Amino acid sequence: MKSTQYSDKVLDHFRKPRNVGTLEGDDVVVGRVGNPVCGDLMEFYVRVRDDRIADIKFKTFGCGSAIATASMITELAKGKTVEEALKITRQDVAEELNGLPPIKMHCSNLAADALRDAIKKYRDKQKPAAGQTTAAAVEHEIGGLEQFIGRGIHQDVSDLSLFKDKRVMVVEHGDRSFEIARGLTKFTPRVILITRQKEPETAALSGDLARSGIKVLYESELAEIRGLNTVEKVLVHDMNENEEYELFVDSVIMLKE
Ligand code: FES
Repeated sequence: MKSTQYSDKVLDHFRKPRNVGTLEGDDVVVGRVGNPVCGDLMEFYVRVRDDRIADIKFKTFGCGSAIATASMITELAKGKTVEEALKITRQDVAEELNGLPPIKMHCSNLAADALRDAIKKYRDKQKPAAGQTTAAAVEHEIGGLEQFIGRGIHQDVSDLSLFKDKRVMVVEHGDRSFEIARGLTKFTPRVILITRQKEPETAALSGDLARSGIKVLYESELAEIRGLNTVEKVLVHDMNENEEYELFVDSVIMLKE
């Protein structure tokens, strides 16, 4: 395919887009993303019933490729479970459309990201409200946690100088975890804060974190702790990309309630 040529399927979905519009109701979540490349906007309206995508519609201010990819992704996602829908990648959509000009691939990101955003909102709605998540609930999901308590996992800390020059991960659990992460930067340049939040709750916190030199992993959760006798690395789950990757760390600070 030439860099500017569109497949018949792209043209068909552009001329007759499927599932255009909006949905309303308590069981509808709305995913909304802007395209950082061109500034265009995409909205996905998703009705989830019994963890399955019962209906889906979209609205976009994007170009023809954005319309075609959104139209295709609604067809791919309808009827799937949210877990299956999360696995639909930008590449899958482009392939279903028999290819997109490379210069337009950023437009296909828009539809896939808007669908993910909607599913994330659905999942957030299912979770207990922020602040009600107990440490036990968080701990429950982390592989290897019990094994490493006291061997690199710290459930409370008083003397931050013990972490001098170590690679430390702080699991976000309220204001105190932010304070600890900031305090640690006096002793080590390698501080990672991991949080399920999409962005800092306030602009002040955002500026504060940016200045602190703390590496923040947003929309991420700790999936597993690994090592021989002590913590050597952790498996991080990127909730946005639904991917997992390893990070080398010496210590993990996970505060109890
Ligand atoms: Fe903006 Fe395609 S150019 S979505």
